[in-house]
Amino acid sequence: MIFETHAHYDDEQFNEDRDELLRSMADNGIGTIVNVGASLRGCRDSIVLAKRYPFVYAAVGVHPDEVGDLNEETFAWLKDQFAYDKVVAVGEIGLDYYWDNESHDVQKKWFIEQLNLARELELPVIIHSREAAADTLEIMKEHAKGLRGVIHCFSYSAELAREYVKMGFYIGIGGVVTFKNARKLKETAAEVPLEQIVLETDCPYLAPVPNRGKRNSSLNLKYVAEEIARIRGLATEEVIEQTAINAKQLYNIK
Ligand code: NI
Repeated sequence: MIFETHAHYDDEQFNEDRDELLRSMADNGIGTIVNVGASLRGCRDSIVLAKRYPFVYAAVGVHPDEVGDLNEETFAWLKDQFAYDKVVAVGEIGLDYYWDNESHDVQKKWFIEQLNLARELELPVIIHSREAAADTLEIMKEHAKGLRGVIHCFSYSAELAREYVKMGFYIGIGGVVTFKNARKLKETAAEVPLEQIVLETDCPYLAPVPNRGKRNSSLNLKYVAEEIARIRGLATEEVIEQTAINAKQLYNIK
């Protein structure tokens, strides 16, 4: 069964058919889903989903675009959410210099605070990094030593992927790998050991070919697994099985 390591089913794009869609997962080969919080509301709603569906787990953390909502009080609230045992990771956290919603200093401050929180809670981290390769690596080297985690929706070079793999991190690969022009990501998918790759959608965003441009869901992960298998000359089933083992190790799910 496919393990979906990064989804946002709390997104309003799923309001019409969320329950029906989630109930169809098992019949379509999707075994486990981690729903990732990005905003404070998203964290709360991820936990609601984890409570409602046995195969859904939650990650709690604030995305760099949303860290303007963090202060002492809301950060204390955030910490409290980890009391629920189906919260399996801190994320998504990181730096986003593409949207640049918050100043780099504010993004860095809350990135580091949340890395420290993961260390305190002994939980893995889900890293979001967009157009911020150098600053992310610098912070990770200084503040993420010994932490487990995944670099989600990896968008940098294969060389940088190898660097994170050396640090013990997993590389999250999603729909973009199926795009014709995704040369760097195809290279990463070929070079990173299969034992360090996990599958993700980031749905509702980034649907793979042949559904590019449409609303994404975990049902499309088979296309991602197929493309990684094609690139590596493996059977799709082997990619599905190994990435599921990896994901369970990443999130410490039995
Ligand atoms: Ni995401």
